[in-house]
Amino acid sequence: MTDSYTILYISRAADQLNEIDILELLENSEYRNNKKGLNGILLYGEGSFLQVLEGEESLVKETFAKIEKDKRHDTLIVLFEEKAKEMVFRNYNSKFNLVIDKFDWLNLNEYLKRKRRMGLESEMEELLRPFLESRNFEN
Ligand SMILES: Cc1cc2nc3c(=O)[nH]c(=O)nc-3n(C[C@H](O)[C@H](O)[C@H](O)COP(=O)(O)O)c2cc1C
Repeated sequence: MTDSYTILYISRAADQLNEIDILELLENSEYRNNKKGLNGILLYGEGSFLQVLEGEESLVKETFAKIEKDKRHDTLIVLFEEKAKEMVFRNYNSKFNLVIDKFDWLNLNEYLKRKRRMGLESEMEELLRPFLESRNFEN
């Protein structure tokens, strides 16, 4: 079995990006990652991105190396990066405006729960807060 790897980061969207640019970016990333067999999620909201990449180590690292250099965002902070024994996300999704469904929400929480157990620092929790405010899934 090949080694799996995961990276969680947040970043600020570049000021000049408009809604259409962001939607295009999210859709392209989703399309490319599903084609490559890379799992995770990319969320956009309030001017920030949150992305989880999960998958074969070299694929994750190779993709992240491109993402890091991308001028469409800056102030990138890696919150977590490690070899992963199991995948939490089963495919790749992207969401605009933090509207995520219950399934994605549960996956993200499960992912973070595992990372917290390994000691995610409290200032990192602060950075994640906009993405983690409690949601109502009654509809
Ligand atoms: C916030 C953000 C997230 C991105 N996520 C991905 C991603 O998950 N997968 C991907 O292939 N490209 C992603 N990209 C785009 C890459 O930076 C890059 O433009 C793309 O992989 C095409 O690279 P290439 O033309 O060298 O193949 C992302 C870019 C940004 C700004």
